[in-house]
Parts: sequence; C-alpha cells; structure tokens
Amino acid sequence: MRSWKAAILAIAPIALATPEAAQAQGSLNVYCSVQAEWCTLIANEFQKATGVKVSITQKGSGETIAQIKAEAANPKGDIWFGGTGDPHLAAAEENLTDVYKSPNLPQLHAWAQKQAADSGFRTTGIYAGALGFGINSELVAKKKITPPSCWADLLKPDFKGEIQMANPNSSGTAYVAIATLVQVMGEDKGFDYLKKMHVNVNAYTRSGTAPMKAVARGETTVSISFVHDGVTEALAGFPVKTATPCEGTGYEIGSISLIKGARNLENARKFYDWALTPAAQRLGAQAKQFQVPSNKETPVPPEAPKFADMKLIDYDFAKYGKASERKRLIGRWDTEIGALPK
Ligand code: F6P
Repeated sequence: MRSWKAAILAIAPIALATPEAAQAQGSLNVYCSVQAEWCTLIANEFQKATGVKVSITQKGSGETIAQIKAEAANPKGDIWFGGTGDPHLAAAEENLTDVYKSPNLPQLHAWAQKQAADSGFRTTGIYAGALGFGINSELVAKKKITPPSCWADLLKPDFKGEIQMANPNSSGTAYVAIATLVQVMGEDKGFDYLKKMHVNVNAYTRSGTAPMKAVARGETTVSISFVHDGVTEALAGFPVKTATPCEGTGYEIGSISLIKGARNLENARKFYDWALTPAAQRLGAQAKQFQVPSNKETPVPPEAPKFADMKLIDYDFAKYGKASERKRLIGRWDTEIGALPK
C-alpha cells in the first residue's frame, strides 16, 4: 500500500504548479451557451492544456446576447462559446463581437466556414443540430396519444396542456423554432399556428434545454427541442424518443464569437483556435452532447441524430440572423403569443 506521504508527494507538483502557471498565463472569461457539463469540461481541459485560468458564465443564447449588449461599454466576457447561430450573427452585425479569422478555419465543414464568411469573420460555426420533438414514450402510451411526427400534430386536442417550448427572448432554440415555422408556413400562417398551439402549451421556459429535461422527468409529454438533447436524456436512462417534423425542420449552427473589447484578447484568440480543433470538439461527446462537430476531422458521435434521415429546410441564416429581423419576430411573438393568458 502507498503511504499517505507518497500519495501527497505524487500530487504535490501539480497542486503547486497549477496556480503559478495559471497566474503566469492569465485568465479568460467564457460566456457559455451549451449545457453546463460541456462548459465545465472545456474550462477544465483548456486550463489544463494552457495554464489559463478559465471562468464560465452559463446562460442561454438570447440571455447571452442581451448581457453582451448591456456590458458593451465595459465588457466583462472575453469569448462566447456555443448557443444558436442567429444571435451570434446578430451580435456580429451590431458590432458587439470582433473580427477574427482563426488559422483553423480551413479545417471546418463548408457550413461552418460559410457562417464565418457571412458574418464578416465575426463568428464561426462549431457544431450543428436539428430541431424537432422530444417525446416521453411512457406518457404517450399511458395517455393513448399518437406521438407527433408533423408540426400539424401539435395542434390536435390530444396535446392540450402536453407541450412545452422555450421563450424566444432568452432561448435560441425557441427562436429557431419560430424562424423555422415562418420559413415552412409563411409568416402569418406561422404565427397563426403558434397562437393555436398556445392552447396546448403548458409552459414557455427560460432555457432551451429545459423542455427536453421536463419530457425526460415526465413533467410534460412533448417538447419542441433540438433532437440531440433528447439523445442525452435517453442515454441517461429516461423514456425519451425524438422525431423531426414531416413538413420540414430547421437547424442551428452553434457558434463561437470573440467579444468586442475583450480584456483577455490573446487568451480569447487562443481559446477560439483551440475550440475549432478535433481535440477540443471531441469533448462534446465526452460531455454527452451529440451535436455534429464543425471540424471535418472530429469524429461525428455515432449517437448524433442523422441529418440524412430528416427533411431539413434551407434555413436562411442571413435573414433570420439579422438583428432587426430577430427583434421583430421576437416582438411579434411577445405581443401575439407571450401576452396571451395561460
Ligand atoms: O446545449 C444544448 C443546446 O441545445 C445547444 O445545441 C444550443 O445551441 C443551446 O442548447 C441553445 O440553448 P438556448 O435555447 O437556451 O439558447
């Protein structure tokens, strides 16, 4: 058996070296809009690899752009990791984020490079994920409801009080849902659909992943969610199935952006480059997150939902990532749906 002294000596060099190394390498404030498990893992691994002390603020995509905007005169964050692409594009247009052309850009899939080019190199795609439904398979069986496979199904009286989605002010997922419905049905019909669906919705949550977690725990029967988040819950042992709507569905290009006026600019660039590498992108699957990674060399987790099996729309990122369009559609949702009695 190893003595306690040997055990302490074995860990002492790391314990002593880490704070000094971290101090020498400075710090980095990451605004993180993926799930907490992934945020924590990237913080720890980047810190281990570089000695940079990382602090994480985890918030939804809509909340994060609001925070960056509120802090614009005195930025506290250095880099924004993850979250849906539309608010990253809006932040780029509003000059809240900085131009940065990572040397690792050529290693990325065309869709991720396009996101960068479309934003004038103020944001870059780090992963992609499709929108769909989370379904509690035990609840649908118990309530004798046919699981939804089309947007139209969510309007059926069977689903009264059974659906949960997020609020588009705070959640990028919910904004993708609204922009998708507008693209699939046309704007007025899309809003008419949302109004009709309101009767069947039991809550609009702050976070985009909350409705899928509620499906997992049996608190709601159905959610409008990214389908990769359903894989996470199913693997954790919950009775969760997913489906993507038959009329067509939208998707996100989860993105990274450097915050304008970042106090730790060099470390932010270092983190940006690192986040685009296969070594960093593999951490997603390690944290049980199953989006499709943007680096061509990062293995796609076998559990990741297959885009080829879905009817994906040609989501118009340039239009729906416009700050004015985002503001207008969320405003319309607030007055026409969010304000309706529950
Ligand atoms: O981390 C899971 C995830 O679904 C991401 O794929 C997505 O970018 C993010 O959550 C969106 O979160 P929110 O809707 O809260 O902005």
